[in-house]
Parts: sequence; structure tokens; C-alpha cells
Amino acid sequence: MLEIETDPQRDEVTVRQKYWGPRLSSSAAREAAALPAGSATPSGARRHVTSFSQPAEIEELLPVDGGLRWGVPALQVSVDGIRSLELRFVSADAYPENGSDRLDITLQDRVFPVEVVLSMRVFADSDAIERWATVRHHGGSDATVEITRLDSGSWFIPDAADYHYRAVFGAWAEENQLQRGRLPVGELVFTSRQGITGHHANPWIMIDDGSADERYGEVWSVALAWSGSWRMTTTRRPEGGVAVTAGFGHDGVRWNLPPNSEICSPAVLGVYSAAGTGGVSRAWHRHVRRHVLPAADRDRPVLFNSWEATGFTVTEATQLKLARRAAAMGVELFVIDDGWFGKRDDDRSSLGDWRPHALRLPNGLSDLFDDIRALGLKVGLWVEPEGVSPDSDLYRAHPDWVLNLSHRRRDYKRHQLVLNFARHDVRDWAFEWLDKLVTELSLDYLKWDMNRPFTQAGWPEQEQAQDRVWIEHTRNVYSVLQQLRTRHPHLQIEGCAAGGGRLDLGILRYTDQVWPSDNTDPVDRQTAQHGFSHIYPASVMSAWVTDSPNANVGRHTPLRYRFHVAMAGVLGIGGDLATWSPAELEEAGTLIAQYKTVRRTIQHGSQYRLGGRPGALPSAVQYVLNDQVVVLVYNPHGNVKSGPRWLRLTALDHNATYEVTTGGDTGDCVPGRLANGSRWHGSTLMAVGIRPAAWEPIGEDYRSDLIVLQKLPD
Ligand code: DGJ
Repeated sequence: MLEIETDPQRDEVTVRQKYWGPRLSSSAAREAAALPAGSATPSGARRHVTSFSQPAEIEELLPVDGGLRWGVPALQVSVDGIRSLELRFVSADAYPENGSDRLDITLQDRVFPVEVVLSMRVFADSDAIERWATVRHHGGSDATVEITRLDSGSWFIPDAADYHYRAVFGAWAEENQLQRGRLPVGELVFTSRQGITGHHANPWIMIDDGSADERYGEVWSVALAWSGSWRMTTTRRPEGGVAVTAGFGHDGVRWNLPPNSEICSPAVLGVYSAAGTGGVSRAWHRHVRRHVLPAADRDRPVLFNSWEATGFTVTEATQLKLARRAAAMGVELFVIDDGWFGKRDDDRSSLGDWRPHALRLPNGLSDLFDDIRALGLKVGLWVEPEGVSPDSDLYRAHPDWVLNLSHRRRDYKRHQLVLNFARHDVRDWAFEWLDKLVTELSLDYLKWDMNRPFTQAGWPEQEQAQDRVWIEHTRNVYSVLQQLRTRHPHLQIEGCAAGGGRLDLGILRYTDQVWPSDNTDPVDRQTAQHGFSHIYPASVMSAWVTDSPNANVGRHTPLRYRFHVAMAGVLGIGGDLATWSPAELEEAGTLIAQYKTVRRTIQHGSQYRLGGRPGALPSAVQYVLNDQVVVLVYNPHGNVKSGPRWLRLTALDHNATYEVTTGGDTGDCVPGRLANGSRWHGSTLMAVGIRPAAWEPIGEDYRSDLIVLQKLPD
């Protein structure tokens, strides 16, 4: 609910968020609309106003740099070097659009040829509110319009006695680590200056008054749908009140707007839930499935990926051997990772030369893929379209195609540079070779990787306008992905950026799943998966079972534990199957078969984090879809005397009976252990709980279980 208020003396309009919270009935909404906004009305100002502060700006939908404001500007424009926007109201237009209700509020500067449109959209079948902003130079003068900040929208979090936040931080091989804390008075900034979303942070935040937990309490959350650099600033004002403003680009980046042109921000979304962090996560998952993913309803196949097994040493013989074993285990898709092209024997060369490695794959890939398909597997290939090795024919032919700045070095990272996708010739070249590759090899799957952040990022020919690379690169990555999807509707695409460096609601519009981390150790993975699940659903979370000891961290874990952790998302296999024993291959086959019986529920159902500390102490996660209930139970450090023994399930039908179809490890006959075929009241399972063997206090490390229940008809 908004309030548009014009100050006739200053000839200026402010657009404020008046209400964001539980859905109101239309009569309650009418009633609320008549009430004054929280602090903002001149008469009813509740916050402490002095000559040095303007607390109400925190409630604005897009506080500009201008007028009596000193907070974080969500929009900062200068015209012919003059900053400070002064906006007048032009119009407010509401209309239905593709199953949603849209509102555009158009504002215009009193003097300069600058128009600002604040857009928003609500959905009947989702709790998310989507917002974005457009700035236009509407011509009539050749004034120079320069934008140094354009956020998609600012969100005001209603008054509370205190404020706490949840967000994730990370690093390469350690993505999506949940952090929480009390919001300090001041500004809390999460940002990426890398041209990609980044491993170190992810563009979302959840805010509550400090009392919300997984199941209870009000939570307000904001997430940005953008895969390049970004900034999200949360302000807690000394007078009270919190706002989150988010948008693309990072501090210092400038965009010029020529006459008769516009710049449109990506979307920022907000979701409120009264059902704790679990409730708000499920609302995000629903929204992603219904309104973000391109093919949400598809079951994601169990794939094999060659990276950890063979590294760069991709040969016909190594891949076929793996494919035979994978097919026998029940794998459905075989993906050849890095190392298949140019003369790529390590990461020092060949990005850009996208033809099969002449020495290691002398017969190309066609015959190999035919042989793999003959085993009943679909086929996929790794690519890194934005990457270029200085040692490549592509770079030798087109040194000007990379992001670069005149008179500056071109520093290498992972021995490579980044192609400037903002250039149309680069974008078209990328689509052309990718389209050809997918067509000629009849690929079912592409893994699109990106292993290097931007540095020295410019486009010298564009002179003053070269900062546009920070936006247009990402937009053209989206455009190539979209063109590929349109041309090859069956194609599935996995997003990746050196693990989880590009995970966000923007890339998920064009991809089916995302590789969350290069760290495949199941214990480390649990904490990463926990953070991941706060916004993103299990159907987009690729998860491989790899070897033990783990290649990244050296930890030994049982195959069963590795499987149970990977089953919490889209199960894949990434181990060197050539070294797995017959017993391991057989056990893997059984677990893959089991996953197939529950994958619809895991990938498309509602997810409940059942507490515990994933990766550290006993924990569990539950999924419900229609009548099936799937529970994955973990205990990494088995011999823990404290901690829960009883696990209370949730979201079941109190009055229904549930039959145990997979009871997990029943071990000794302990009350609460679920024997196959036993039947339980929903209320018993929720009120008393079950007693998983994996949670018994004394036992081996790395115990885990898969428990499946079926609700019986009345
Ligand atoms: C980084 C990815 O995250 C890995 O899975 C793998 O594809 C390598 N790149 C290949 O270079």
C-alpha cells in the first residue's frame, strides 16, 4: 500500500510505502488506506525530526539524491553536472499484466528532461511483490544525464522494538554460509563489485524483530534478481525504522543516458511471512517455481559430471568407462566438464577455441556421444562462453574483444580474461557457436561456467559511456541463454561460476539449476545447502556425490552419508567411478533408485528445515508433496551426548494415517523407530515425533537416513 503526497510549497512529490505485511481483505485494506502513514505525514510525525534529519525518507519507494534527504540515495542522477532531483507527480496507472497486477507511477523532474517510473507487480498465486524502476531522458534537450545510482526499489520494514537480520556470506568453496545478527544503527552494505553475483555474499536479506525462528514469527525479506555487480544497503535509523534498498551496479559506476533513451533496473522482490524463516523460504521457493524458472515442472535428471573424476584429461576411453558405470547405476545424463576443447590440458589455455581437443579427442565428440547415448544416457557439455585464454586463437584474432581499459594492464586470473559480452559481435559470436554445438551434438544439457570476476572492466571505444559493460554484459549473457532456450526448448542449462559465484533470481530465469559450490564434501555442503535453501528451492540445487576422501577437504565419509546429503537437492554423481568397488557401485545404484522414488517430492514439494545445526550437530530436512513425505536425517559427529533424539515432523495432516514406506535404519527395536509398513497418526508424528537411529547419542560419525511416509486415503 502506497501513499503519494505532493508538497505544493516545494512542488515536489514523495511516494511512500504505507503498508507491507500480512495480506489484508479488501475492506481492511480500504480501512488501512485511510490511516496516516507510519511516521511520514507532516502532522503525525512520530519519529524525532530535527533540522539535521528527515526520518520519513526511509519510507520512500525510491529516495532520490535531492531535496531534504541525507540517507542512502536509491536514485542519484546529475544533469549537466547538477545533482539533486526534484520530482513531480505525472501519473499512476494500474493494469493487469500476464496474470499479475501492475502499477506504474510516473514522476518527472521539475526542470530537467528526466522521467522516473516506479513499477510494481503483485501476483494472485505468490506472496512476492516485484518492483523495478526506469529512468528516461525524454529528449527535448541534449542535456547530459548521468546516473551514479539506480536501485530497483527501497523497502521499508514496519516499526518494531528491535531488528535482526539473516543473510549469507561466503568464499570460493564455502558459499552460502548463514549469518545472523542484530542490525546496527547505521548502514549495512552487502555488495558485489565483481561483475558476477559473487561467492562472498548473495543479494538477499531477511529481517525480523529478533524473535522469529524457523517456524514462528514475522519475517520481511528482500532479494534482487541480478547476476552482475550489485549493492544492497540496509539502513537502521537512530529514530527507529529500517529500510532495504537494492539494485544493480556498485559504487562508482556511472551510466550516461543519451536523449530519448531509458535505463531500466532489474527486479527487486519482497516477501513477507508470519511463519518464521521456514515460512518465508517456502514462499520464495513457490515464487521461484511459479514465476522465475523457465521450466519449473521438469524433473531434474540424475547426472554424472566428469570434473572431479577426470579433470582436464578428457579422452574417449576415460569418458566411456565412466559412462558405462554411470548408466549401470541408473544415472540419466552424462556431462563432460572442462578439458574437451582446443588444446586445453590445464587452465592455462584454449578458452574461446570451442572445438574438440585434437589430440585427446581425435574423432571429435559426435561418435563418443552416440556411444554414450547408446547406453541410455542423455548428454551434456561444459562451456565457459564469457572466458577467454590469452593463449587462444580467439584472443590472438580479437584482442579487443575482452573487457579492458586503455592504458591499464590486463591482469590475469586463473590465467584468463573476460570477453566483453556487452559488444554485439561478441554476443552474436557466442550464440552462434553455442547454437551450433548444441545442434550438431544434439546436446540435452549445457553447464555454463564463469570462472573469473571482472577487473579493469571497460570498453575503450565507448569512451565516457564505457561503464555500461557492467550492465550490458549481464543482459547479453541473459540474452544468449534465452536465445538458446528458444531455439532448443528441450535443452537444460546449469548455471555455474567457479562453484556458486552466480546464484540469484536473475540467472534462474534462464537456467534450470545452479552449481552451488566446488566444495563437494558432504559435511561442508550441509551448511552451504542450509544457506542456499533460505531463498532458492531444492530443484535448482545441483549436488554431487564424489569420492572419499574428498578432493577438496580430505575428509572420509561413508557413501550413504554423501548420498543422503546430495539427495537434498538435484542428485548427481561426480566421483571417479572407475575407482569405486563393486559393492560401492551396487550401493550407489540402490540409492539412486531410491532417490528416483522421492525426487518429485524433493524437487517440487514444500521444504521444511527441521532444526538442528546442519553439518555440525543432528539435523533433518523434510519435503512434502501431495501424499508423500520425505525426511532426510543427518548426524555428522555421531558421538554427541547432548542434542535431540526425537524428531518432530511438521505440516502433516493431524487426522490422517501415514504408512512408512522407507523406514531408514530401524536397528534395534526402539520405540519411535519407524519400521517399514508401520502406520502412524499424523498427530503422533508431529506432536511426539520419531526417533531416528542416526540421532542416537552414541554411535559412528556420519550417520544418516532417508525416511519416506505415505499418507493413506481416509
Ligand atoms: C569451476 C566449476 O565450478 C567446476 O565444477 C568445474 O566445472 C571447473 N570450473 C572447470 O574448470
